[in-house]
Amino acid sequence: MHVFVTGATGWVGSMVVQELLGAGHRVTGLSRSREKGQALAATGATVLHATLDDLDALQRAAGAADAVIHTAFNHDFSQFAANAEQDRRAIEALGGALVGSSRPLLVTAGVALLAPGRVATEQDEASSDPSYPRRSEVMARTLRERGVRAATIRLPPSVHGLGDHGFLPILIRTARETGVSAYIGDGRNRWSGVHRLDAARVYRLALEEGVTQPAYHAVADEGVAFEELAKIIGRRLGLPVQSREASHFSWFSSFAGLDMAASSARTRELLDWQPTEPGLLEDLDQPGYFA
Ligand SMILES: NC(=O)c1ccc[n+]([C@@H]2O[C@H](COP(=O)([O-])OP(=O)(O)OC[C@H]3O[C@@H](n4cnc5c(N)ncnc54)[C@H](OP(=O)(O)O)[C@@H]3O)[C@@H](O)[C@H]2O)c1
Repeated sequence: MHVFVTGATGWVGSMVVQELLGAGHRVTGLSRSREKGQALAATGATVLHATLDDLDALQRAAGAADAVIHTAFNHDFSQFAANAEQDRRAIEALGGALVGSSRPLLVTAGVALLAPGRVATEQDEASSDPSYPRRSEVMARTLRERGVRAATIRLPPSVHGLGDHGFLPILIRTARETGVSAYIGDGRNRWSGVHRLDAARVYRLALEEGVTQPAYHAVADEGVAFEELAKIIGRRLGLPVQSREASHFSWFSSFAGLDMAASSARTRELLDWQPTEPGLLEDLDQPGYFA
């Protein structure tokens, strides 16, 4: 299969590219950077030099591929609404190239706001919460209504592994800066997680399965109490582990305090997927996170 991958130079996308190439698929990867594009080409992928704003280029690449995987996203949270709009437009363009075909589009989304307070499942539908501008999942649904074989791969808040620059490093940095490894309230809110290698396999298996479902959950750990994460960080850094007000985490408080448990029972059954890499707590306890 020839797959067009956006975000091919990113944490998740670069592993998806490796996974696809390793399984014998052909990949064209999007890169906005010459330097990272060269590294991507060295893996065996063809490189499309463009940005998420080059909608014509995205459409042409999607139109020339057998399948599309969208993992690109600008994570500068200071301009989150603008980035969410850029993402929405890019998904619309990618999907527009697939209308009238059975060629699939996998859009990356999260489990974060699906079902706070209970374990989210693949059957849960994302709402259009006006306080959260990201519309990746909603766009995928809109495309399905237009006849596109679009689905979401939902990722947990932590896609972990050596080299992680996501949410776990933010918690570690906050602990270092404030001198306390904190949790909010009783710390029982849950974070789900998956190792980057296990997540990449879900993308490949979903494509190979033919993308028959609206949503897949690349979730290995269903839900780990946030306090358990704080305990490991506190022990590793030699800092006290204490409850704090949400404001302790500043802009990150909405994530640190959120309950984000999710099941992947349906995905495991459908794709015959079993995570094999270290779990969230075991992986966080690696020295690499604290180097
Ligand atoms: N990592 C996690 O723990 C996690 C958890 C839940 C959901 N997710 C979601 O998973 C997806 C992938 O995340 P990630 O961790 O791989 O993010 P990442 O490491 O920040 O990678 C993002 C990718 O998007 C590219 N990109 C950003 N802005 C672009 C633009 N304007 N034009 C072209 N390319 C652009 C980046 O290019 P450069 O390499 O040039 O910067 C990079 O390849 C995102 O949708 C993210 O929100 C991630």
